[in-house]
Amino acid sequence: MPLIAPSLLTANFLRLEEACNMLNESEADWFHLDVMDGRFVPNISFGMSIIKQIRKTTTKVCDVHLMILEPEKYAEEFKAAGADILTVHFEACPHLHRNIQQIKSLGMQAGVAINPHTPVSFLKDILADIDIVLLMSVNPGFGAQKLIPHTIEKIKELRRMIEEKRLNVKIEIDGGVTLENAKAIVDAGADVLVAGNTVFGSADPKETIAQLKRI
Ligand code: DX5
Ligand code: ZN
Repeated sequence: MPLIAPSLLTANFLRLEEACNMLNESEADWFHLDVMDGRFVPNISFGMSIIKQIRKTTTKVCDVHLMILEPEKYAEEFKAAGADILTVHFEACPHLHRNIQQIKSLGMQAGVAINPHTPVSFLKDILADIDIVLLMSVNPGFGAQKLIPHTIEKIKELRRMIEEKRLNVKIEIDGGVTLENAKAIVDAGADVLVAGNTVFGSADPKETIAQLKRI
């Protein structure tokens, strides 16, 4: 069974507590929290103060996806806000190894995200140091986009790399996950499905989460 990580990016922010309560009652495994800086990606979302509020509503894993430059400046604050997992972008970090060490030394699980154009082979020398690879299946910045089909090949290749090295690294897929394509994603080797629009755009979000879980 995949882990389900609904993204709150498309939730109604005037009713954030309701959205959090719904996720708590649902079979969602993680809260996926998308932080955007308007520099690494062409959009601005929310930061640590919102995450701190969300953290108060839940005991589920807070999976923070940083789409920001210079994440080292803020890692400590995200830890203080309640992040359990901190994921940084390969493309945003010239000193990625140092970023990963910092995240782990703060007591969080460390993730590395790659954009659709970045080959999974670029992760070869960091894979043993991390807990999660987040494969972007759309260009980061916005919810409700269509999954780029080539992602399926990338999942298979990454799964082979992880198995060859006998590592315990999770593969998380982010962007355009739907009830229609989720099975192909899981069959290719994904462990975690992020879903924003599919969950929050649904008439019955809890039921949609249950369906994704049983895909
Ligand atoms: C996009 C974010 C995603 C986004 C996913 O930059 O990283 O987490 O919220 O949304 P959907 O599932 O709607 O594509
Ligand atoms: Zn995300």
